[in-house]
Amino acid sequence: MHRLQGKVAIVTGSGSGIGQGIAKRLGSEGAKVLINYRGSEAGADDTRRFIESHGGEGVVLKADVTKMDDIQNLVDTAWSRFGSADILVNNAGLEIRSDFWDTKVEDYDRQMAVNLRGPYFLAQAFVRRLRDAKKPGRIVNISSVHEDMAFPGFTAYCCSKGGLRMMMHNLTVELGPLGITINNIAPGAIVTPINKTLLEDKPKLDALLAKIPLGRLGTTDDVAGMVAYLASDEASYVTGATFLIDGGLMRDYHEQ
Ligand code: BGC
Repeated sequence: MHRLQGKVAIVTGSGSGIGQGIAKRLGSEGAKVLINYRGSEAGADDTRRFIESHGGEGVVLKADVTKMDDIQNLVDTAWSRFGSADILVNNAGLEIRSDFWDTKVEDYDRQMAVNLRGPYFLAQAFVRRLRDAKKPGRIVNISSVHEDMAFPGFTAYCCSKGGLRMMMHNLTVELGPLGITINNIAPGAIVTPINKTLLEDKPKLDALLAKIPLGRLGTTDDVAGMVAYLASDEASYVTGATFLIDGGLMRDYHEQ
C-alpha cells in the first residue's frame, strides 16, 4: 500500500522508540522521510536502511529541536533534498521523574524545551514554507495520555504535554484556512526506551498492566498506523482531535 506516495515527512526523534516506528511506517507507505535524531545515530541509520529495503527514500539529519538553527535546518533540508515538506511529526520527547517539591529548574526547562518549544517552532518553520508555497500540510504531535491525565512525579512532563494539547487546539483554528490539519496522538504505555526503568521493575509493571483494560503494553506499530492514517488523504477532514492509543488506560477505574 502506497497511500503516501509523493509526500515528504519530517519525523523528529526517529532514531529510536515511537519515532522510529513512525518513520519506518511512513517510509514504507511511500513518503520520503527526513529521519531526525539527536543521540541515536545508529538507530537513525537503521530507520533509513529499513525504508530503503522497502523501496523508499530516507535522509538522516542530526538536529536538536531545542535549537532554532537546527529547527530551520530540518525544514530547509527537507525542501532542498526532497522539494517539499508536507507532513510534520513532532515526536521527539523526554521525561524526567521528580517529586514536585524537588523539581530542578533545569529539568523543568529541558522538558519544556524538547516537548513543547521544539514542536512549536518547528511547526512554525514548517508552516511558513507551506504558506509561501501555497501548499496544504499535516501536523501530527506525539503527545501522551498525560496531556490530560495526572501522572504524579512527572508534573513538568504533564505541563509540557498539556501545552501541546492547547497548541494543537489553537493551531486547528489558525492553520485550517491554510489547508493544514493538526492532530495529537496520545499514547499510553508503549514499549520504548522512555519506559526503560518501568519495564525493568516487575512489581511496577504488573501494577500498570492491571490498569490497562486490554492487558498489554502498546507497541510502536500501534502508534505508527494512526500517524500514517492522519497523514493520508483519507484523513483530509480530520483536524483538532486527540487520538488515544492506550489500550483503555485513560478510561480505567476500579472500585475495590
Ligand atoms: C510516559 C510513560 C508512561 C505512559 C503511561 C507516557 O506518556 O512517557 O512513561 O508509562 O505515559 O503512563
